[in-house]
Amino acid sequence: MSKYRIAWLPGDGIGLEVMAATRIVLDALELDAEYLDGDIGWDFWCGEGDSFPLRTIDLLRNVDAAMFGAITSKPVKAAEAELVPDLRGKGLVYRSPIVRMRQLFDLYVCLRPCKAYPGNPLNYREGIDLVVYRENTEDLYSGVEFHPVPQELADTLGKLARPFAPFAKLAADEYAVSCKINTHKGSERIVRAAFEFAKIHQRRKVTVVHKANVVRASDGLFLETAREVAAGYPDIQTDEANIDALCMWLLKNPKNYDVLVAPNLYGDIISDLCAQMVGGLGFGCSGNIGSKLAVFEPSHGSAPKYAGQYKVNPIATILSARMMLDWLGEAKKSAALENAVAAVIKEGKVRTYDMGGSNSTLEMGEAIARRL
Ligand SMILES: NC(=O)c1ccc[n+]([C@@H]2O[C@H](COP(=O)([O-])OP(=O)(O)OC[C@H]3O[C@@H](n4cnc5c(N)ncnc54)[C@H](O)[C@@H]3O)[C@@H](O)[C@H]2O)c1
Repeated sequence: MSKYRIAWLPGDGIGLEVMAATRIVLDALELDAEYLDGDIGWDFWCGEGDSFPLRTIDLLRNVDAAMFGAITSKPVKAAEAELVPDLRGKGLVYRSPIVRMRQLFDLYVCLRPCKAYPGNPLNYREGIDLVVYRENTEDLYSGVEFHPVPQELADTLGKLARPFAPFAKLAADEYAVSCKINTHKGSERIVRAAFEFAKIHQRRKVTVVHKANVVRASDGLFLETAREVAAGYPDIQTDEANIDALCMWLLKNPKNYDVLVAPNLYGDIISDLCAQMVGGLGFGCSGNIGSKLAVFEPSHGSAPKYAGQYKVNPIATILSARMMLDWLGEAKKSAALENAVAAVIKEGKVRTYDMGGSNSTLEMGEAIARRL
């Protein structure tokens, strides 16, 4: 029996291609693992009305970790139009499988390291080494949304919230409500995870990202909770930043930042900004981490315009696999893999289109595998 059971979820479009390149690297590392294929993505929505079928959920209940490629997502109405005729009009509502997976398995940490590897022609500045901790299960992604808005909700908001007055006269389908729900527990555990990471990895500073001056209730709770947690880490510098100002300062002085922790939506935004500073989506690796399961994936999507061409950069997925090795406790293999990625980037002989080269997705995987 293998030491690890790993769910293998390529998904849609370029997800299949970057995962194939990643497998070349994991095989070269001789990780003692059994890879179990799981169904996820657009074809399963269209054909069965569920992009994240129960059998895949069951698979995830019985593995040590999962690697996920990318999926195609479409708005609710467009999604319904692509269902097989038998399933149309049955009230099926499309929800992103990755958002469902995060909530179902309580994968509350979205970890996104962004490092400028020397020699990467896409680096915005040399020496950038940022780590984003994004809360992954609540905030504006709680899924509590209304359109049209039920009269009962409008009546309650009219009674309880004075700023609702200008909206009260609108017809139910003329406006929409999405609830931003932050909890003390959710805020506490993501901020603690960021500080623990900083402590273990001797990082100097944690920046708490918010907009509590305007979004007083939910961001206010996040910020207050972050302050409580920070008080337990006197040796780590704590910094607080409004999301809008932070975007500006991050671009101006990225090296002033170290570990960043944010509620879900702001975390989503800054992790793409940070990824762009170290090479863009071809380098944006990530882990969705809970207390029992962790799912690792590139932060890019299925990029339909490149699907089938094997030209996109698999480094984001390969670095996500490296994060999985850390999660599994395979520190030596993780370090070897990072060194191999860094060496290929530094040498600059094998480059995919985004790096100004013409090598294929699989050639990049093979080059990294040869370095191991
Ligand atoms: N976690 C996910 O699976 C996820 C994330 C984002 C978007 N999506 C979905 O993916 C689909 C396409 O979305 P999109 O086109 O807005 O975003 P995308 O991330 O798929 O691609 C946007 C562009 O980024 C570049 N790019 C992406 N990955 C790259 C790589 N590995 N190497 C080099 N360049 C790369 C390409 O130019 C591509 O056209 C949509 O259906 C969207 O909902 C899924």
